[in-house]
Amino acid sequence: MSLSVDAVDIKKRIESCKNLQDVEGIRLEYLGKKGLIPSEMKLLGKLSFDERKLKGQELNKLKSLIEDAIDNQKTFIENAEIEIKLKNENLDVTLPQIEKTNGKIHPISQTIFSIIEIFGNLNYSVEAGPDIESDFNNFSALNIPPHHPAREMQDTFYVKNNDGEDNVLRTHTSPVQVRTMLKTKPPIKIIVPGRTYRSDSDSTHTPMFHQVEGLVVNKDATMADLKSTLITFLKEFFEIDNLKYRFRPSYFPFTEPSAEMDVAFTKKNNVLKIGEGDDWLEILGCGMVNPKVLENCNIDSSVYQGFAFGMGIERLSMLKYGITDMRGLFDVNIKWLDHYGFSPLDLRNRAEV
Ligand code: DAH
Repeated sequence: MSLSVDAVDIKKRIESCKNLQDVEGIRLEYLGKKGLIPSEMKLLGKLSFDERKLKGQELNKLKSLIEDAIDNQKTFIENAEIEIKLKNENLDVTLPQIEKTNGKIHPISQTIFSIIEIFGNLNYSVEAGPDIESDFNNFSALNIPPHHPAREMQDTFYVKNNDGEDNVLRTHTSPVQVRTMLKTKPPIKIIVPGRTYRSDSDSTHTPMFHQVEGLVVNKDATMADLKSTLITFLKEFFEIDNLKYRFRPSYFPFTEPSAEMDVAFTKKNNVLKIGEGDDWLEILGCGMVNPKVLENCNIDSSVYQGFAFGMGIERLSMLKYGITDMRGLFDVNIKWLDHYGFSPLDLRNRAEV
């Protein structure tokens, strides 16, 4: 007794399927629980030994033939689908950039991008904190207790919270040092670019400005590490190999010892040249983290030490891109932005002129 179906026909039917559902239909027809082959298998018991042996072999042969054909066709269909997808979702990365877009990147944003890039290459990560800060984070934890004269140095905007307590618009990015130390265990290696506020407004001050803070805490940070980090940063930032600089002793309540870093400049025919000359421009404040600050942030100062630095982003930006009036940065003048801004796709860090 031989089967009423022709293996070649079944194979042809499978090979003509255009989608997986059709293949599945054929699979059920022959191999499914109620399909032809299982049904025939069930009848084998009624046959004589010899017939059973013969038909069993025949059925098994047919079964594996169908299985193979189904597998092949499935792979064929899936590959074809991938081909189609690849064709349709094709993205030509060689397309030229759109020549002229209306939007421009603000020089402050551009400066922040390059600061992050340089410190990123030195393995720093980026932290952020809120503009409205507690008095503790902005002052007390940084070793600036109430009535400390250092509070007078920073013309603070006070804002009351719902409970009538004084909060402040952060006067510097240093409170993010505190936030980070309170939530993370050393080693810490962060920079914090962000907005800061002081009640001050003239040609060289705006009530809102930007700073970038740096903090490194580990078991063996030194003043030498601090200096080499800052020198590396400024050389990279200004793209000057022979940058003339100096460190001056200074005072900040949150660092001990403290220093300020100046870079040399010359001004000829109203053009400022950074990195050489006999005049000095103050660029940043820095120092070894005061052990009192570590203790205020629950870090054991007998085990850990660190360094910190802070600098104004506006000044860095103005010096790098030749911007002379600071107020221009925040005038929201589209012509100004068109002149000093950056094309979103311009990776060269240079102002378009
Ligand atoms: N927070 C200081 C300011 O606003 C800048 C500063 C100086 C930050 C020294 C530091 C530092 O982290 O070590 O004037």
